[in-house]
Amino acid sequence: MKKFRWGVIGAGMIAKTVCKEIVKSGRHEIAAVYSRTYENAFRLAKKYGAKACRTLEEMLSPDSVDAVYIATPHSVHYDNIIACIEAGKPALAEKAFTVNAAQAERVFALSKQKKVPVCEAMWTRFQPVVLEVADAVERGEIGEIKRFKGGFSTPATWVRPFLSDRLFKPEYAGGALLDVGVYPLSFSHMLMGVPEEIKCTAKLGEGIDYGDDIVLKYSDGAIAELTCTLEGLRSFKGVIEGTEGKIIMPNYTRPKKAVIYDKDGRKKRVIKGKRGYIYEFDAFADCVARGEIECRFMREKDTVEVMKMMDECRMQSGLRYPQKVEKA
Ligand SMILES: NC(=O)c1ccc[n+]([C@@H]2O[C@H](COP(=O)([O-])OP(=O)(O)OC[C@H]3O[C@@H](n4cnc5c(N)ncnc54)[C@H](OP(=O)(O)O)[C@@H]3O)[C@@H](O)[C@H]2O)c1
Repeated sequence: MKKFRWGVIGAGMIAKTVCKEIVKSGRHEIAAVYSRTYENAFRLAKKYGAKACRTLEEMLSPDSVDAVYIATPHSVHYDNIIACIEAGKPALAEKAFTVNAAQAERVFALSKQKKVPVCEAMWTRFQPVVLEVADAVERGEIGEIKRFKGGFSTPATWVRPFLSDRLFKPEYAGGALLDVGVYPLSFSHMLMGVPEEIKCTAKLGEGIDYGDDIVLKYSDGAIAELTCTLEGLRSFKGVIEGTEGKIIMPNYTRPKKAVIYDKDGRKKRVIKGKRGYIYEFDAFADCVARGEIECRFMREKDTVEVMKMMDECRMQSGLRYPQKVEKA
């Protein structure tokens, strides 16, 4: 069978991890790589027998690739996605999809106009255990949701010298919210939709946020208590409480396991599964093959509504990136 040919923009940490994983399945191949620094594109391309491109136009040329994976800093996603759509190349772009909701809305409008599929690579929403949990919640296995408590905590500031500087620079739309806060927000959105009220406080410095505390209140009285930080011990725990039980996920962002309890605290069942990046790549390739404009696991609505929640959080905390980064 002919393999699905990916072009990759960016040759940093996540691009390397993802390329390594997706080629193992045998369905995908890395056909071309473009990055800001040609030597980095060349090194990554060489590992996969792919073409290293000196310009983005070269990578987006007519018969080059079947779709593009965008793994650049947040501030670059918008221009990259627009370039892909204009060239007729489907684009799977890393989270956070864009810097703000206005950019995301423009991207989706162009995607529909040109009939070129785009999707946010929010890998959590493609994980088999997450899909089973969503299904269990949908079927009322824990009753009505009353509360979701989830965070994403990482010690980035402690290991800062070993990380790329995109996380700490406002010109890259760095900081905790767009990089890691997007996980609990997107997960809450999957479970509970758009809240009636958002309250966000953040610790700011250097033009970015080191961490945020967010409370979402819903019209039915449900609540989500979310945290994200670049200054904490690694933690990704998520707890969904319902009127008839609860679900505990040691790592809701990329779970291998979720445990469902009844309302008396007795274990009812355990959901287990594999995790990985492959699920979003398979789903997007399926979507391209079927000629669909959006991917059912991560639709336009999911991305835009979460971007709007992040806009509101940044408005409340006073976090604004430079004008050229916020442009739409
Ligand atoms: N899904 C996940 O689990 C996950 C995990 C980590 C990160 N991410 C997301 O992935 C994205 C990248 O993160 P990362 O940690 O991989 O960052 P990174 O290590 O800093 O890599 C970014 C890459 O983009 C390249 N780049 C920068 N500006 C560019 C431009 N204008 N045009 C083309 N290439 C450009 C860099 O260029 P050089 O070639 O000059 O180095 C570098 O190769 C972010 O959106 C992040 O939120 C997702």
